[in-house]
Amino acid sequence: MGKRWVFLGAPGVGKGTQAEIVAQKFGVCKISTGDLLREAVTQGSELGQKAQQYMDRGELVPDEVVMGLVQEKIATCLNGFVLDGFPRTVKQADLLASFLEQRGQTLDQVVYFSLSQEEIIRRLTGRRICTQCQAVYHLDFSPPRREGVCDRCGGPLQQRRDDQRETVSSRLSVYEAQTAPLIAYYRERQVLAELDSSGSVETVRDRLLALLNRSERA
Ligand code: AP5
Repeated sequence: MGKRWVFLGAPGVGKGTQAEIVAQKFGVCKISTGDLLREAVTQGSELGQKAQQYMDRGELVPDEVVMGLVQEKIATCLNGFVLDGFPRTVKQADLLASFLEQRGQTLDQVVYFSLSQEEIIRRLTGRRICTQCQAVYHLDFSPPRREGVCDRCGGPLQQRRDDQRETVSSRLSVYEAQTAPLIAYYRERQVLAELDSSGSVETVRDRLLALLNRSERA
Protein backbone atom coordinates (compact mmCIF):
# COMPACT_ATOMS: atom_id res chain seq x y z
CA MET A 1 0.00 0.00 0.00
CA GLY A 2 1.17 3.53 -0.75
CA LYS A 3 2.75 5.67 1.91
CA ARG A 4 1.33 8.93 3.19
CA TRP A 5 3.85 11.34 4.65
CA VAL A 6 3.87 14.99 5.73
CA PHE A 7 7.07 17.06 5.70
CA LEU A 8 6.77 19.83 8.28
CA GLY A 9 9.22 22.61 9.08
CA ALA A 10 10.17 26.23 8.66
CA PRO A 11 10.45 27.88 5.24
CA GLY A 12 13.78 27.03 3.60
CA VAL A 13 14.63 24.11 5.83
CA GLY A 14 14.94 21.79 2.79
CA LYS A 15 11.54 20.05 2.75
CA GLY A 16 11.01 20.51 -0.97
CA THR A 17 14.48 19.26 -1.88
CA GLN A 18 14.00 16.08 0.14
CA ALA A 19 10.37 15.60 -0.91
CA GLU A 20 11.55 15.43 -4.52
CA ILE A 21 14.08 12.69 -3.67
CA VAL A 22 11.60 10.68 -1.59
CA ALA A 23 8.85 10.93 -4.21
CA GLN A 24 11.18 9.52 -6.88
CA LYS A 25 12.58 6.80 -4.66
CA PHE A 26 9.22 5.51 -3.41
CA GLY A 27 7.14 6.30 -6.50
CA VAL A 28 4.72 8.52 -4.59
CA CYS A 29 3.38 11.96 -5.54
CA LYS A 30 5.09 15.06 -4.24
CA ILE A 31 2.36 17.52 -3.36
CA SER A 32 3.80 20.96 -2.64
CA THR A 33 1.16 23.59 -1.92
CA GLY A 34 3.76 26.31 -2.60
CA ASP A 35 4.35 24.90 -6.12
CA LEU A 36 0.61 24.49 -6.75
CA LEU A 37 -0.02 28.07 -5.71
CA ARG A 38 2.90 29.44 -7.78
CA GLU A 39 1.52 27.51 -10.77
CA ALA A 40 -1.87 29.17 -10.27
CA VAL A 41 -0.15 32.57 -10.04
CA THR A 42 1.73 31.96 -13.31
CA GLN A 43 -1.46 30.89 -15.04
CA GLY A 44 -3.10 34.08 -13.80
CA SER A 45 -6.24 32.24 -12.69
CA GLU A 46 -8.64 33.92 -10.27
CA LEU A 47 -7.31 31.72 -7.47
CA GLY A 48 -3.74 32.62 -8.45
CA GLN A 49 -4.41 36.35 -8.40
CA LYS A 50 -5.94 36.07 -4.94
CA ALA A 51 -3.12 33.84 -3.64
CA GLN A 52 -0.37 36.14 -4.93
CA GLN A 53 -1.35 38.97 -2.60
CA TYR A 54 -0.87 36.72 0.44
CA MET A 55 2.32 35.10 -0.86
CA ASP A 56 4.01 38.42 -1.63
CA ARG A 57 3.40 39.52 1.96
CA GLY A 58 4.72 36.20 3.31
CA GLU A 59 1.30 35.41 4.77
CA LEU A 60 -0.65 32.19 4.49
CA VAL A 61 -3.26 31.73 1.78
CA PRO A 62 -6.72 30.99 3.32
CA ASP A 63 -7.14 27.40 4.54
CA GLU A 64 -10.11 26.51 2.33
CA VAL A 65 -8.34 27.61 -0.86
CA VAL A 66 -5.30 25.47 -0.13
CA MET A 67 -7.36 22.50 1.04
CA GLY A 68 -9.27 22.53 -2.25
CA LEU A 69 -6.00 22.25 -4.20
CA VAL A 70 -4.68 19.44 -1.98
CA GLN A 71 -7.87 17.37 -2.12
CA GLU A 72 -7.90 17.49 -5.89
CA LYS A 73 -4.29 16.33 -6.01
CA ILE A 74 -4.56 13.56 -3.38
CA ALA A 75 -7.46 12.03 -5.27
CA THR A 76 -5.10 11.37 -8.20
CA CYS A 77 -2.25 9.87 -6.11
CA LEU A 78 -3.19 6.21 -5.81
CA ASN A 79 0.33 5.17 -4.87
CA GLY A 80 0.64 7.48 -1.86
CA PHE A 81 2.07 10.97 -1.38
CA VAL A 82 4.44 13.25 0.43
CA LEU A 83 2.91 16.55 1.43
CA ASP A 84 5.42 19.39 1.35
CA GLY A 85 4.39 22.62 3.09
CA PHE A 86 0.92 21.38 4.00
CA PRO A 87 -0.72 21.41 6.51
CA ARG A 88 0.44 24.72 7.88
CA THR A 89 -2.28 25.53 10.41
CA VAL A 90 -4.20 23.45 12.95
CA LYS A 91 -7.33 24.06 10.85
CA GLN A 92 -5.60 22.57 7.76
CA ALA A 93 -4.42 19.59 9.82
CA ASP A 94 -8.00 18.96 11.02
CA LEU A 95 -9.37 19.31 7.46
CA LEU A 96 -6.73 16.86 6.19
CA ALA A 97 -7.52 14.34 8.95
CA SER A 98 -11.25 14.37 8.11
CA PHE A 99 -10.60 14.14 4.38
CA LEU A 100 -8.35 11.10 4.87
CA GLU A 101 -10.80 9.56 7.33
CA GLN A 102 -13.55 9.71 4.69
CA ARG A 103 -11.20 7.72 2.46
CA GLY A 104 -10.43 5.21 5.22
CA GLN A 105 -6.83 6.47 5.42
CA THR A 106 -4.42 7.93 7.98
CA LEU A 107 -0.97 9.50 7.83
CA ASP A 108 1.97 7.12 8.20
CA GLN A 109 4.40 9.70 9.49
CA VAL A 110 4.97 13.42 9.92
CA VAL A 111 8.64 14.35 9.61
CA TYR A 112 9.60 17.55 11.39
CA PHE A 113 12.70 19.09 9.77
CA SER A 114 14.66 21.00 12.42
CA LEU A 115 17.45 23.50 11.68
CA SER A 116 18.98 26.64 13.25
CA GLN A 117 17.47 29.97 12.22
CA GLU A 118 20.86 31.17 10.93
CA GLU A 119 21.13 28.22 8.52
CA ILE A 120 17.50 28.61 7.42
CA ILE A 121 18.16 32.22 6.40
CA ARG A 122 21.31 31.20 4.45
CA ARG A 123 19.36 28.52 2.58
CA LEU A 124 16.47 30.87 1.77
CA THR A 125 18.40 33.91 0.65
CA GLY A 126 20.75 31.88 -1.58
CA ARG A 127 18.00 29.89 -3.28
CA ARG A 128 17.40 30.32 -7.01
CA ILE A 129 14.71 28.58 -9.04
CA CYS A 130 14.31 27.88 -12.72
CA THR A 131 11.50 29.98 -14.13
CA GLN A 132 10.72 27.24 -16.68
CA CYS A 133 10.92 23.87 -14.88
CA GLN A 134 11.02 25.02 -11.21
CA ALA A 135 14.28 23.12 -10.47
CA VAL A 136 15.83 24.42 -7.23
CA TYR A 137 19.45 25.61 -6.82
CA HIS A 138 21.50 27.36 -4.18
CA LEU A 139 24.21 29.92 -4.96
CA ASP A 140 26.68 28.29 -2.53
CA PHE A 141 25.39 24.79 -1.76
CA SER A 142 24.11 23.56 -5.12
CA PRO A 143 25.02 26.07 -7.83
CA PRO A 144 24.15 25.45 -11.49
CA ARG A 145 27.02 24.53 -13.85
CA ARG A 146 26.55 27.83 -15.74
CA GLU A 147 25.71 30.87 -13.68
CA GLY A 148 22.05 31.85 -13.96
CA VAL A 149 21.13 28.92 -16.27
CA CYS A 150 19.21 25.77 -15.34
CA ASP A 151 21.25 22.53 -15.78
CA ARG A 152 18.07 20.59 -16.52
CA CYS A 153 16.30 22.68 -19.16
CA GLY A 154 18.51 25.70 -19.91
CA GLY A 155 15.89 28.11 -18.54
CA PRO A 156 16.80 31.31 -16.65
CA LEU A 157 17.21 31.18 -12.87
CA GLN A 158 15.59 33.72 -10.59
CA GLN A 159 15.20 34.49 -6.92
CA ARG A 160 11.70 33.80 -5.63
CA ARG A 161 9.87 37.06 -4.86
CA ASP A 162 9.24 35.93 -1.30
CA ASP A 163 12.91 34.99 -0.70
CA GLN A 164 13.94 38.62 -0.33
CA ARG A 165 15.09 39.46 3.19
CA GLU A 166 12.03 41.50 4.32
CA THR A 167 9.56 38.83 3.24
CA VAL A 168 11.71 36.05 4.70
CA SER A 169 11.42 37.53 8.17
CA SER A 170 7.62 37.79 7.96
CA ARG A 171 7.43 34.18 6.67
CA LEU A 172 9.46 33.03 9.66
CA SER A 173 7.18 34.87 12.12
CA VAL A 174 4.09 33.45 10.41
CA TYR A 175 5.65 29.98 10.69
CA GLU A 176 6.28 30.39 14.45
CA ALA A 177 2.77 31.67 15.12
CA GLN A 178 0.68 29.45 12.86
CA THR A 179 2.64 26.36 11.82
CA ALA A 180 4.97 25.51 14.72
CA PRO A 181 1.96 24.49 16.91
CA LEU A 182 1.59 21.50 14.55
CA ILE A 183 4.71 19.97 16.11
CA ALA A 184 2.83 19.43 19.38
CA TYR A 185 -0.36 18.52 17.48
CA TYR A 186 1.29 15.61 15.66
CA ARG A 187 3.46 14.64 18.63
CA GLU A 188 0.26 14.11 20.65
CA ARG A 189 -1.08 11.90 17.86
CA GLN A 190 2.17 9.89 17.95
CA VAL A 191 3.05 10.25 14.29
CA LEU A 192 5.83 12.85 14.62
CA ALA A 193 9.52 12.10 14.01
CA GLU A 194 12.14 14.85 14.25
CA LEU A 195 14.86 15.03 11.59
CA ASP A 196 18.10 16.91 12.15
CA SER A 197 18.27 18.85 8.86
CA SER A 198 21.80 20.19 9.17
CA GLY A 199 24.52 19.09 6.77
CA SER A 200 24.58 18.56 3.02
CA VAL A 201 21.58 17.50 0.92
CA GLU A 202 23.06 13.97 0.75
CA THR A 203 23.62 13.78 4.53
CA VAL A 204 20.04 14.84 5.22
CA ARG A 205 18.77 12.45 2.54
CA ASP A 206 20.54 9.49 4.15
CA ARG A 207 19.20 10.39 7.61
CA LEU A 208 15.71 10.79 6.22
CA LEU A 209 15.71 7.52 4.28
CA ALA A 210 16.97 5.68 7.37
CA LEU A 211 14.13 7.20 9.37
CA LEU A 212 11.46 6.33 6.79
CA ASN A 213 12.80 2.77 6.38
CA ARG A 214 12.90 2.30 10.16
CA SER A 215 9.28 3.30 10.50
CA GLU A 216 8.33 1.00 7.62
CA ARG A 217 9.82 -1.97 9.49
CA ALA A 218 8.31 -0.98 12.86
P1 AP5 B 1 6.31 27.29 0.05
O1 AP5 B 1 6.73 27.28 -1.36
O2 AP5 B 1 5.76 26.05 0.64
O3 AP5 B 1 7.49 27.79 0.89
P2 AP5 B 1 8.02 27.31 2.31
O4 AP5 B 1 7.34 26.34 3.15
O5 AP5 B 1 8.19 28.63 2.91
O6 AP5 B 1 9.18 26.44 1.96
P3 AP5 B 1 10.25 26.71 0.99
O7 AP5 B 1 9.87 26.30 -0.38
O8 AP5 B 1 10.67 28.14 1.16
O9 AP5 B 1 11.45 25.84 1.58
P4 AP5 B 1 11.75 24.29 1.61
O10 AP5 B 1 11.76 23.83 3.02
O11 AP5 B 1 10.96 23.52 0.62
O12 AP5 B 1 13.29 24.39 1.15
P5 AP5 B 1 14.01 23.97 -0.21
O13 AP5 B 1 14.07 22.50 -0.31
O14 AP5 B 1 13.51 24.75 -1.37
O15 AP5 B 1 5.23 28.43 0.30
C1 AP5 B 1 5.32 29.73 -0.26
C2 AP5 B 1 4.09 30.54 0.12
O16 AP5 B 1 2.90 29.90 -0.41
C3 AP5 B 1 3.81 30.68 1.62
O17 AP5 B 1 4.54 31.74 2.20
C4 AP5 B 1 2.28 30.90 1.61
O18 AP5 B 1 1.96 32.22 1.27
C5 AP5 B 1 1.80 29.98 0.51
N1 AP5 B 1 1.46 28.62 1.01
C6 AP5 B 1 2.10 27.46 0.68
N2 AP5 B 1 1.53 26.41 1.33
C7 AP5 B 1 0.51 26.93 2.05
C8 AP5 B 1 -0.43 26.37 2.94
N3 AP5 B 1 -0.44 25.06 3.22
N4 AP5 B 1 -1.33 27.19 3.52
C9 AP5 B 1 -1.35 28.50 3.25
N5 AP5 B 1 -0.47 29.11 2.44
C10 AP5 B 1 0.45 28.33 1.84
O19 AP5 B 1 15.50 24.47 0.17
C11 AP5 B 1 15.79 25.85 0.36
C12 AP5 B 1 17.18 26.15 -0.25
O20 AP5 B 1 18.18 25.45 0.48
C13 AP5 B 1 17.35 25.71 -1.72
O21 AP5 B 1 18.16 26.66 -2.37
C14 AP5 B 1 18.09 24.37 -1.64
O22 AP5 B 1 18.91 24.14 -2.76
C15 AP5 B 1 18.90 24.55 -0.37
N6 AP5 B 1 19.08 23.32 0.41
C16 AP5 B 1 18.15 22.36 0.67
N7 AP5 B 1 18.66 21.41 1.46
C17 AP5 B 1 19.94 21.78 1.73
C18 AP5 B 1 20.99 21.21 2.50
N8 AP5 B 1 20.83 20.08 3.18
N9 AP5 B 1 22.16 21.88 2.57
C19 AP5 B 1 22.35 23.05 1.90
N10 AP5 B 1 21.39 23.63 1.15
C20 AP5 B 1 20.20 23.00 1.06
